Amino acid sequence: MLDAFQRPIHDLRISVTDRCNFRCVYCMPKHVFGPNYPFLKRSQLLTYEEIEQVARVFVRLGVRKLRLTGGEPLVRNDIESLIEKLASIDGVQDVSLTTNGSLLTRKKAEKLYSAGLRRITVSLDSIDGETFQSMNGVDFAPEPVLEAIDTAADVGLTPLKINMVVKRGVNDNAVLSAARRFRGTGHILRFIEYMDVGNSNAWRENEVISAAEIRDIIGREFPIEPVTPDYHGEVAQRWRYTDGEGELGIIASVSQPFCGSCTRARLSADGSLYTCLFATKGHDLRSLLREGISEEGLFERVKSIWSARSDRYSELRATQVVEIPKIEMSYIGG
Ligand code: GTP
Ligand code: 5AD
Ligand code: SF4
Ligand code: SF4
Repeated sequence: MLDAFQRPIHDLRISVTDRCNFRCVYCMPKHVFGPNYPFLKRSQLLTYEEIEQVARVFVRLGVRKLRLTGGEPLVRNDIESLIEKLASIDGVQDVSLTTNGSLLTRKKAEKLYSAGLRRITVSLDSIDGETFQSMNGVDFAPEPVLEAIDTAADVGLTPLKINMVVKRGVNDNAVLSAARRFRGTGHILRFIEYMDVGNSNAWRENEVISAAEIRDIIGREFPIEPVTPDYHGEVAQRWRYTDGEGELGIIASVSQPFCGSCTRARLSADGSLYTCLFATKGHDLRSLLREGISEEGLFERVKSIWSARSDRYSELRATQVVEIPKIEMSYIGG
């Protein structure tokens, strides 16, 4: 099944909640996401059974990779029971999860692994306390996250990836210390260009540290060379330290958009299907599910949505000003 630009569907990113215990400046700034923010109510969230129903249809349409996101997916109760359901679907090759690591105890990591999770990505924007604490907006120290990273790798959630969003004047001075810390650990540190997702983060282009700048900063201390991508459409550009101390990644969605090979669909926590991270409108699948649509009916509906897909927001933004109301990252799931 191909979309209007001949792109197949390969990944489904599932947001299980729009809530998070962090208030990262680039994602859920606390002056916007305050105590009265209208988060989704429980009844609005898809149940795990409903998520499984949707996932089955996507797998029939070609999806092989599932990623759980949020908000923070670990704030949702008993997420391991969802992982168990998803990992047992015939045809699923990869179930992973992106977390801030704050709730990832050893017990939780073991439960996730037993449920069938094999990979995890932990967001960590600086190993320096002051920088990290101001960036996550809730004064959370980096040490417990560092511990969670080691614990997760220890229980077998590998290769473990670490996501670091780089914002000029905020944590660009923490790029090298993070590289030093994770070199030689087997974990893959990935630097992400700060994106204009949502409407809350007051994104400005001059706050983006580009992939080229990141390579320069790393290159000052460590020689690196490119590695061939793992698979067609891989989001991160892969690099390796020439001294054999491992790999790092750079996600250049602003300076080098990758819409041409975008095979990702997103399911929001309340059951809307978005065919782009920057989509303005989703397609409400929850109502269809709750009206009792058959699996075949849902299959046909999703097929027609994907076949008509013509999104390529990041490419358009690179060449022209695109003014559209957007969906928040914490809702659509990154
Ligand atoms: P794997 O390669 O499977 O390990 O995962 P991933 O890199 O796709 O997932 P992750 O959740 O770690 O995402 C990394 C960053 O890339 C996040 O900032 C995402 O928002 C961003 N990203 C992922 N997919 C897309 C996409 O389709 N478009 C854009 N613009 N950004 C994306
Ligand atoms: N730009 C780039 N990455 C972002 N993330 C959240 N908001 C942004 C943004 N504005 C990252 C998170 C997480 C991943 C899913 O997306 O840090 O690692
Ligand atoms: Fe929470 Fe992740 Fe957004 Fe930070 S980036 S506020 S940890 S969902
Ligand atoms: Fe895919 Fe939209 Fe991201 Fe382009 S901007 S890579 S179409 S999600």
